Amino acid sequence: MTPSSTSTSFDQAALSSGRLANTGNGPFLVPVDIGHATHTALVDPDTAFWALVKKDRLASTLTSPAFLSAYREKSGQFRQEMDGLRFGLTPSAVYFNPTERCNLNCAYCYIPASLRRDGRHMDQAEIERALTILKDHFAATLPAGRKPRIVFHGAEPLLNRAALFPAIAKFHEDFSFGVQTNATLLDAEAVAFLREHGVSVGISLDGATAKVADRTRTTWGGTGVYGQVMKAFDLLAGYPAFSVISTVTTANMRTLPKLVEFLHDKGVSTCLLNAVRCTLPGAREVKPADADMARHFLAALKRADELRAATGRKLVVANFANILLAILAPTARRLMCDISPCGGGRAFFALAPDGGLFPCSEFIGLPEFLGGNLFDGGIAPALASPAFAKVTGRKVEDIEPCRRCAIRHFCGSPCPAEAHEMRGGMDKPGAFCGFYEEQTRHALRLIADGRERDFLWDGWDDGVDTVFEVRMS
Ligand SMILES: C[S@@+](CC[C@H](N)C(=O)[O-])C[C@H]1O[C@@H](n2cnc3c(N)ncnc32)[C@H](O)[C@@H]1O
Ligand code: SF4
Ligand code: SF4
Repeated sequence: MTPSSTSTSFDQAALSSGRLANTGNGPFLVPVDIGHATHTALVDPDTAFWALVKKDRLASTLTSPAFLSAYREKSGQFRQEMDGLRFGLTPSAVYFNPTERCNLNCAYCYIPASLRRDGRHMDQAEIERALTILKDHFAATLPAGRKPRIVFHGAEPLLNRAALFPAIAKFHEDFSFGVQTNATLLDAEAVAFLREHGVSVGISLDGATAKVADRTRTTWGGTGVYGQVMKAFDLLAGYPAFSVISTVTTANMRTLPKLVEFLHDKGVSTCLLNAVRCTLPGAREVKPADADMARHFLAALKRADELRAATGRKLVVANFANILLAILAPTARRLMCDISPCGGGRAFFALAPDGGLFPCSEFIGLPEFLGGNLFDGGIAPALASPAFAKVTGRKVEDIEPCRRCAIRHFCGSPCPAEAHEMRGGMDKPGAFCGFYEEQTRHALRLIADGRERDFLWDGWDDGVDTVFEVRMS
């Protein structure tokens, strides 16, 4: 059968200059249905360029020589920026675990129970030796004046407070310090010390009520710790460098809007509502299905927005804000999970109490990702080790179906630890593909409505330049 013929005229100049979309050397722009009433997104998956186009102007935009030429002119710059972010970073942060032990046994914890129960503390001399090595390393690798960031993490860092606090006092001019804690050991004296030394404090809470929060976060004996965490909230009230991490599971997902209300009421300005990482089997038992995760997460964002409108005070959900930033200003991202390669081993790395160096805390229970030892061999060989290369070399282009996904640079197919342990290989996607799709669609819808600022930190765009702006009349 012969196709019916139409006109054979064509624009030779457009062909030879690559001003045609989606063929040859022309820009590659994929329409993405974002579920918006009037707009569709056009995305160049390679460079993460995007445009929001009225649905009835999609065809004319995709064939507009002015639009395509303007984009083509800038696409090299987009590609360069994306490549710099993906392949050109130098580590500037460390997740420093001063102890393997923890006083809690949370249902989903990615640190193996054997370490949390029987592991070791670092002593003060070891912590100070480690900080000295890190200080020298960063002095040689970071631009002058840039303070490296160290987050004391764990297991539970405050179990080792007696060794940790003197070390913080000694080095607080050299690093930007943070502590991530389950909050059970935060007393007035500890909070006063942390405030005085400018240490940011993250605490963990999974629900607005004891009934919900204590479903996942308990002592080894199974007792909930909600009451202790509430005391910490009171002690930290008004501290600007205070944030909350909530881990979202089947046990609390339905109550996320209530949790947001609670945090907003407590004056919290930034929280993370992190989908549970499914690296270890225990976490998979409380993994929400993607559609449930997305539904409840978007309900929480809506509630945060209503509270902002009613009070003029924002509670930024930082993991969603990061997706907005990935779209609006990729290099202004604050978290490095939603990009490939992820930040593990190239924007930050993790230090175990025995000096073991891992690309990220998520790998601390997985010996094959041990890259080296801080005290024996040092940082540079670990960063260049095959163990780190498995993580720093994991690219969406090598993952099916991510290599064909239009939003691959807004998602990054996190996380490699999950892909490896839960899906069976680094070349597999992470645990929450559908959730990332829904978050990205929602972010693009907000941008189409001009509402992105309501979900971002004030001042997010200070120092951010607009590289491309075309107004199609
Ligand atoms: C490993 S803990 C270490 C610091 C401290 N013990 C605490 O609970 O905050 C750091 C954060 O990781 C979160 N976390 C632990 N296991 C997780 C998992 N499987 N998925 C997502 N987050 C997890 C915890 O809820 C906590 O907010
Ligand atoms: S308190 Fe932190 S380290 Fe301890 S079990 Fe819970 S999540 Fe893991
Ligand atoms: S995990 Fe899903 S949304 Fe993310 S890049 Fe892969 S295919 Fe795309």
